[in-house]
Amino acid sequence: MTTEFASATLPIHPVAKSRLAEVDLQNPVFGRTFADHMVSADFVDGRWTNAQIMPYGNLSLSPALSVIHYGQGIFEGLKAYKNDKGEVLVFRPEENWKRMNRSALRMCMPEVPEEIFLDGLRELMNLDRGWVPTREGCSLYLRPVLFATDAFIGLRPSETFKFLIITSPAGVYYAEPVKVKIETHYTRAVEGGTGAAKCAGNYAAAMYPTKLAGSQGYHQVIWTDGKQHQYIEEAGSMNIMFVINGKLVTPAETDSVLPGITRRSVLALAREWGIPVEERKVSVNEIIEAIQNGSLEEAFGCGTAATIAHIRTIAYQGVDYELPGVENRRFANRVYNELEDIKRGRTADRHGWVMTI
Ligand code: PLP
Ligand code: COI
Repeated sequence: MTTEFASATLPIHPVAKSRLAEVDLQNPVFGRTFADHMVSADFVDGRWTNAQIMPYGNLSLSPALSVIHYGQGIFEGLKAYKNDKGEVLVFRPEENWKRMNRSALRMCMPEVPEEIFLDGLRELMNLDRGWVPTREGCSLYLRPVLFATDAFIGLRPSETFKFLIITSPAGVYYAEPVKVKIETHYTRAVEGGTGAAKCAGNYAAAMYPTKLAGSQGYHQVIWTDGKQHQYIEEAGSMNIMFVINGKLVTPAETDSVLPGITRRSVLALAREWGIPVEERKVSVNEIIEAIQNGSLEEAFGCGTAATIAHIRTIAYQGVDYELPGVENRRFANRVYNELEDIKRGRTADRHGWVMTI
């Protein structure tokens, strides 16, 4: 569904009193506090309307709201940082906008116009720039979300939708290198399913197996293919990469893997640095053998919330395989530092990845 929207700037309805003074921006906890304002827009009668920036706050919604019953909801995640001139830098927002619109297509939802997603984000950041933490490891996490709002419980795609961007000061997501369990029973996504869309249901389906893994002492599961459970797909909130014999190896983008923006950024940097990159099927057996014969040098997850998360243990069929120490992980440490420098404006933005406000 392609949609149009006319206005270039969104009207702003500011808060009467900012809550910023009540928040400890030096020690933000991921996802718990929300900045003063949000972008809001409605899709009604086949067009976008009512786009504005307004105080963050509760919504009044029908109990028959379509998304509550049938899960027609998608979201995005991106981050804003501050450079030493006090400018706000947002990392690759166009990519999130494009991915949201690809998810929208898969889920029978309208595309969000650039004027609402990107211009709205820019205006929101301009207004709430005081909420962007400056401390290393911290950022303002931005959460665009689009959901179905028909007050109708018949099963069909909704005809009305709401789009919001809320923002939340964030600290580190994983405080330590993670322990992950290769999942060989439950499935997150299958060929032809919704794995490549960032839709709410994918995350709901992942909760029970992730909780089980948590109760066994693991931070995350590594999903495998839904047919044979032999090939690695991704982790619950990040894509997965390995360094084996000096090569960067990662599962290819398929319709059961979320096409991560961090993933694409890491691969672009690796290629520039002359590191051999393989995007292909990666079997669990190959990884276990590489751990056993010492050719697996590094394993890490990459994502917006997680950044670059070293993996220290991989569990498979009841055995915990310990990986080499994180101090010696040359590639993951280098790519983490380079990405942090780009995101915080400490190095030239050679790729045009940063929106400056
Ligand atoms: N895979 C899943 C399931 C995710 O939720 C995320 C996070 O958004 C990623 C991968 C990484 O994607 P990105 O780098 O765009 O944040
Ligand atoms: C992100 O990294 O932005 C995500 O969406 C992961 C999340 C589910 C916390």
